[in-house]
Amino acid sequence: MLKYTRQSDPELYELVVEDLKRQENTIEMIASESTVPLEVMELSGSILTNKTLEGLPHKRFQAGSEVVDKIEELGWQRAKELFGAEHVNLQSYSGSTANYSVFAAVLDPGDKILSMRLDQGGHLTHGSPANWVSKIYHHDFYGVDPKTEQIDYDALEKTAKEVMPKLIIAGASAYPRLIDYERMAKIAEEVGAYFMVDMAHIAGLVAAKVIPSPIPWADFVTSSTTKTFCSARAGMVFCKEKHAKLLDRGTFPGSLGSVHFHTMAAKIWSMKYAASPEFRALMQKVLDNAKFMAKAMEEEGFRIVSGGTDNHLMLVDLRSKGVSGKVFQNTLDSIGITVNKNQIPNDPASPFVTSGARIGLTSTTQRGLGPDELKVVANIMRRVAEAPEDTAVLAACQKEARELISAFPLYPAGAFED
Ligand SMILES: Cc1ncc(COP(=O)(O)O)c(C=O)c1O
Repeated sequence: MLKYTRQSDPELYELVVEDLKRQENTIEMIASESTVPLEVMELSGSILTNKTLEGLPHKRFQAGSEVVDKIEELGWQRAKELFGAEHVNLQSYSGSTANYSVFAAVLDPGDKILSMRLDQGGHLTHGSPANWVSKIYHHDFYGVDPKTEQIDYDALEKTAKEVMPKLIIAGASAYPRLIDYERMAKIAEEVGAYFMVDMAHIAGLVAAKVIPSPIPWADFVTSSTTKTFCSARAGMVFCKEKHAKLLDRGTFPGSLGSVHFHTMAAKIWSMKYAASPEFRALMQKVLDNAKFMAKAMEEEGFRIVSGGTDNHLMLVDLRSKGVSGKVFQNTLDSIGITVNKNQIPNDPASPFVTSGARIGLTSTTQRGLGPDELKVVANIMRRVAEAPEDTAVLAACQKEARELISAFPLYPAGAFED
């Protein structure tokens, strides 16, 4: 692995190897993570990174584009076919910049955005005061019904009619349920708003057609290509043909610079992979494993927010165990299981402490873990939550976690030999 860096910068090389070992020895349950196929790594590190170009195929601002024009067009064809979309722009550097492209495409300073509250599952780029977007636009929020912990569409509709936003955003970082895109599209139509869905978390499940797609309902659909799509650290945006010019201008020159052809090529490889029966079966297993894990956690005495999950992630309410999300995350990390602390709806604790944790099943499913192993993981999580300071318990849990994951290689043997 990294045969040139190994020679020229052993210090950096050793740190990368150290993280490879950490990844190999960790039960990875952060919902936004996945393990990329070797081809994605190969293409992300390919010679395509050398090419500087701005603009779209056949309309570039620099010379030497004839080959990468073909690559980008191949990507359009694959992406539109895979997701059943009218138009795509594959130039986004990440899920965040995918959102910025749409804002640049359709909004003016001071325009109103209605999106999901950050502390109930929304994302920073949808209007958090901590994000620069909040300095430019006016933000209003919708949330979940306190009883069902699922989106309160009636309240959303009422707010939309009062606020009359220019853009309504669906999609979240920590929402375990399916979203009623049809209902939200109707609300957007009634108030004359654009409707955007940020499917960053669920793009792989959508591509595999194991959950419903937002593409038919939304004006714009943005996404990361990491997370369930299991591809390069980049982004993509789909839209209706009638918005194609707006989106392309919002992307470049509206919000981005030159094209990253190395990660674009990796995304294009993944478009082919995501259409395969193998990927579909993987995504179905992710769904099945998430449902199983939610039940297993309930059996260990945890409360699952909204009573379950329809996608790859769940939110666990830790209050019955008397442990904060912060302590749960840090203690699990110390024994080789990674999750992230997360606020639960109407959380009395701050975002830095939290009463909950978010657990995702993509990476573990890719490694081959199934119900038998997940039952053990849920049991370890209970023991850690109930005794986060008991060194004997933690040592036993660490041993079990390490033994369990060592039977499921991160990459095939010899993948990094050179
Ligand atoms: C809903 C949502 N949108 C956008 C993003 C940002 O994606 P990226 O990290 O690729 O910029 C995230 C990342 O967690 C997300 O959950």
